[in-house]
Amino acid sequence: MAAVSRRAFIAGGVAVGVGLAVGIPFAVGASGATSTGQQLVSRARLPRPFTQRLVVPPTLTPVLTGDVDRYEIVARTARARILPGLTTTIFGYNGIFPGPLIRSRSNHPIEVVYRNRLPVPIVTHLHGGHTPHDSDGYPTDYVYPEDMTYLRQHQEMSHETPMPAGDTTNGTRTYRYPLRQRAAMLWYHDHRMDFTGPSVWFGLAGAHIVNDDEEDALGLPDGAREIPLVLTDRAFNDDGSLLYPAVDRTLTTTPGVTGGFVAGVLGDVMLVNGVPWPVADVERASYRIRMLNACNARRLRLRLDPPPTDGIVQIGTEGGLLDAPLTYDAFELAPAQRLDAVVDFSRFAPGTEVTLYNDFGDGGMKNVMRFRVNSTSGPRYTVPSALSSVERLDPASATVTRRFRFQRGTVDHRSGWIIGNSPFSPSEVSASPRLGDVEIWELFADFHHPVHIHLDPFQVISRGINGPGAFDAGWKDTIDLVPGEQARIAVRFRDHVGRFVFHCHNLEHEDMAMMANFVTHA
Ligand code: C2O
Ligand code: CU
Repeated sequence: MAAVSRRAFIAGGVAVGVGLAVGIPFAVGASGATSTGQQLVSRARLPRPFTQRLVVPPTLTPVLTGDVDRYEIVARTARARILPGLTTTIFGYNGIFPGPLIRSRSNHPIEVVYRNRLPVPIVTHLHGGHTPHDSDGYPTDYVYPEDMTYLRQHQEMSHETPMPAGDTTNGTRTYRYPLRQRAAMLWYHDHRMDFTGPSVWFGLAGAHIVNDDEEDALGLPDGAREIPLVLTDRAFNDDGSLLYPAVDRTLTTTPGVTGGFVAGVLGDVMLVNGVPWPVADVERASYRIRMLNACNARRLRLRLDPPPTDGIVQIGTEGGLLDAPLTYDAFELAPAQRLDAVVDFSRFAPGTEVTLYNDFGDGGMKNVMRFRVNSTSGPRYTVPSALSSVERLDPASATVTRRFRFQRGTVDHRSGWIIGNSPFSPSEVSASPRLGDVEIWELFADFHHPVHIHLDPFQVISRGINGPGAFDAGWKDTIDLVPGEQARIAVRFRDHVGRFVFHCHNLEHEDMAMMANFVTHA
C-alpha cells in the first residue's frame, strides 16, 4: 500500500496553463565553496552587462488611509520584459517583479489584501515583520486561486489525503500588520509549504520599507537618493521563460527539484530590481543604498570598484539601524539578509563607472550592476557617529538554551534537509518560548544555511570560539552559517502568542523540509 505522503498537497496533476516552461538544466559544478547550490545554464541570449537601465519598483499607493492604511495586491501571471527582445511569464504581485514597494511607518498599522489570480495557491509572509501568527503567512495557510474550477478539479483528481487543515481561504485574504517595530527594510514573499522556492523564483517577492521618527531625524539621503536594490539570480530558456528545475511543472503536487539542485538553485543572470546587470546614473552625491539578497540560494560578497573614499558605510541591517556606522571594503549577504548603507559618490569625477561586484560569483556572476557618476553635484551626507541606541540582549539573563542542527537528511525517502532529526511537520513543535524571555539558540550547520527566525529579531553572540562575525552587527533576522559552523544567538520574542516557524532561507532547503515550529506563550 502506498503510504500517503506527509507533505502531499491536496492537488492532483492539473497542468498549469500559463506556459511556464520549466526545463531540465545542465548540471554544472557547485559554485566553489561560496554557496551551497548548483548553477543553471541559461539558453536565452543574454544582454551585455551594464547596458540595461536600472528601474526602481513603484511605490504602492494605499486604497484607504486612516488609523489603518489598506493596500491591495493581486498576485497574477504577467508577461514581463526582462531580457531584450523576449518576454518572460512571471508570477507577479500586481503583475510585476519585484512586486511594488510598500512604505509604512512604525506603529501605524496597515492591512494588505492579497487576491490570488495565479493557478497555484499562495501564502504571503512579511519577512522581518513583527506580526501576529494569523497574519504571518504560515506555510499551510493557503490562499487558493480565485478561480474555483481549479480547486474543484484538483479535489476531484486528488488521490492523496489533504494536509492537516491550515487557516485556508479561497481567492483572497487580508493580512494585518501592527508594525510595532523599528524602521527597517523588510520584504514580502511567498511562503507556501513545499513550493516557496519556485514561487519566489517566478516572481513573488517585493520590498517593504518601514520608516520612523528616529530615522527621519538623521536626515539620511532620500527621494531619488535612496535606492532599494532587490538582488536575485535567475536563469532563462531560449524563449525567455524562467528556467527552474522543479520536479512537478504544475508547482502543485510533488515538491522538490531535480538531481543536484536539491543543494540549492543558482541562476547565471543577476537581476537587480528585475533588470539583468543594470546600469544606473547617479549624481556626485551621497546615496542611501538598501540591498536585499532575494536569491534562492546564492550568497553574495558585494564590493564597489573603484571603492568610494569611505568604503561601504553600513548604517543598518535586517532589524534596522545600527548604533554606530561600520565601514567595509566588501559586505557579505546571505539569502534574505539586508544591508542598509550610505555610499558617497561625490568624490568621483563625472563619468566614473563604479561597478558593484559579487566576489563570490564565477564568470558573469561576478557582475551585479554599475553606477555611472554624472556631472550633477548633490549633497554629501556625513554619517553621524551615533545612529541609534540598540538594546543589547544579555546572554547571562537567558532562561533556556536550545540546540538546533541544520543538516542533510531523508525526507519522504528522498534526499532533503532537516533540523535536528525531523523534517518539517506542521504538527510538531520544536520550541515553546515564553514571551519576554531571553533565550540562547545554538545553531549548527553542515552546509551553508542562512537561518531565519520569524516574529522577532535576534543578536549574534558567538561563532565557534570567536565573537560575532564581521557582518553580524545589530538586530538580525537571518544568520549566515557556513559549512561546519556553530553559532550562538540571543533571541527574545516580545509579544504575539501562537505558532511561528524558523527555517533555512535557502529556499530549496526550506521546501525540502528544513523548517520547524515554535509556539510562543505568555
Ligand atoms: Cu523570508 Cu520564513 O521567510
Ligand atoms: Cu539550508
